[in-house]
Amino acid sequence: MEFKAIIDAKTHAPSDCAVVGVYENGDLDAAARNIDAQTGGLIRQLHAGGDFAGKTGDTLLLPRPAGAASARVLLVGLGPRAGFDRKQYRKALLSSAQALAKTGAADSVVYLALEGIAGVEVQYRARMVAEIFSAQGYKIPDLKSGAKPKPAKLSSVSVAAENARTVKAAANGLKIGAAIGSAMAMSRDLANLPPNICTPTYIGQRAESLAKEWPRIKTTVIDKNGIKALKMGAFLAVAQGSAQPPRLIVCEYHGAKKTSAPICLVGKGITFDSGGISLKEPPAMDEMKFDMSGAATVLGAMRAAAELALPINLVVIIAACENMPSGGAIKPSDIVTSMSGQTVEILNTDAEGRLVLCDAITYGRRFKPAAVIDVATLTGACVVALGHHLSGLMSNDEALAAEIAAAGIRADDRAWRMPIADEYVDQLKSNFADLANVGGREGGACTAASFLSKFAAKLAWAHLDVAGTAWLGGSQKGSTGRPIPLLVDFLVNRARSR
Ligand code: BES
Ligand code: MN
Ligand code: ZN
Repeated sequence: MEFKAIIDAKTHAPSDCAVVGVYENGDLDAAARNIDAQTGGLIRQLHAGGDFAGKTGDTLLLPRPAGAASARVLLVGLGPRAGFDRKQYRKALLSSAQALAKTGAADSVVYLALEGIAGVEVQYRARMVAEIFSAQGYKIPDLKSGAKPKPAKLSSVSVAAENARTVKAAANGLKIGAAIGSAMAMSRDLANLPPNICTPTYIGQRAESLAKEWPRIKTTVIDKNGIKALKMGAFLAVAQGSAQPPRLIVCEYHGAKKTSAPICLVGKGITFDSGGISLKEPPAMDEMKFDMSGAATVLGAMRAAAELALPINLVVIIAACENMPSGGAIKPSDIVTSMSGQTVEILNTDAEGRLVLCDAITYGRRFKPAAVIDVATLTGACVVALGHHLSGLMSNDEALAAEIAAAGIRADDRAWRMPIADEYVDQLKSNFADLANVGGREGGACTAASFLSKFAAKLAWAHLDVAGTAWLGGSQKGSTGRPIPLLVDFLVNRARSR
């Protein structure tokens, strides 16, 4: 999908479909007023006659309205005018995208970004158009044997802006939104693929093709022997029960001078988490194919950085393996030595994410990073705490935590700060090793993060627990691509401010 920004507030450029807004009280946005005048008051009549109430997200398609410059007009309800907010705006965009997909329109002009929203600049209003239209057009990798769905007709969306200044801001927003859209599609593809296809080896190959596609990215895939040589005893322990070999995947993006300290993104890449010997229950075990979502999203963030040519350095580190039970698998009470030298007593083989991440974080130190952010579907406890709406955010650095939380708010991909503390580390005491890998049910998301904090000493480090946000279950089952909007916003903001 191609996105463009055009100056078109007064006129009403001809297109296959104009998308215009109507408020509940009958107020029309500027473009709707225009078309209303061109069509002899058609839109006002529809509202007054009760045919279009303007409820948030309602749509009504007007095919070939006599007098209008465009072939179709899509009315979209904006809801109450007073306090028109980002939620209403997003909902209106989503239903516009859904309704447009059911028409034959190949191109469209969306006028909704002309509407003011308190606290949301035009750049973000345009960005949301690209993000939402891209996400709406996303299709799960097709492994069904039936007839192939027809490719989408809509290939070009223009966003109307008021003047030379705002059209520039809108174009910039569209660029960012489109990069987020492509990154999310790539990441969702990886996460939605079944684990017999999306193996650690496969993720490594995808990271290599990303480097082929984007010359500023360099990918290094380290195999089992290399991981052994690095003394990543915790990571290897998780991998040892599986027939699939592990991969440590390192992608470096160079967009700034060599001496500029990189941001390091670390992703949990468990391509299937059976729980291991501490086997999970059958219901919903299939969803543990999504346990590599952290890996997929950090790779997506790297793709977006490359597409946007951000003037920063970025390193992505992915620890990819399966967590399986077998005769060779780790057992509860096994003790392993992590790359950091700290020993860990594995009391529950299902707490494997922290084991692979602790070594990946330690590996990150060699890049002397300005900040390290790990992204992981780490704990069911985080889902209990925050549900499926917000990601968990833990950090040893106040400024970094605030920066990430702010990025999440701007990107509509929020994260909520949760604690790490010595008291949680105390729950991880072991009689036999430096640390146990579990600390009881209580505060499970916090003990997991506090475990990681023991490997992040003296780093500016943050942890995003995306167990509740990375995918949806039920009839909507599938990857969401979160927290890519947050991560990309964070990176764009870093690029701008340094
Ligand atoms: N990948 C899971 C976390 C998870 C569970 C994400 C459910 C989404 C939904 C992780 O590896 C795990 O199994 N964590 C355990 C930790 C426990 C053994 C301390 C959990 O949350 O049950
Ligand atoms: Mn697990
Ligand atoms: Zn897991």
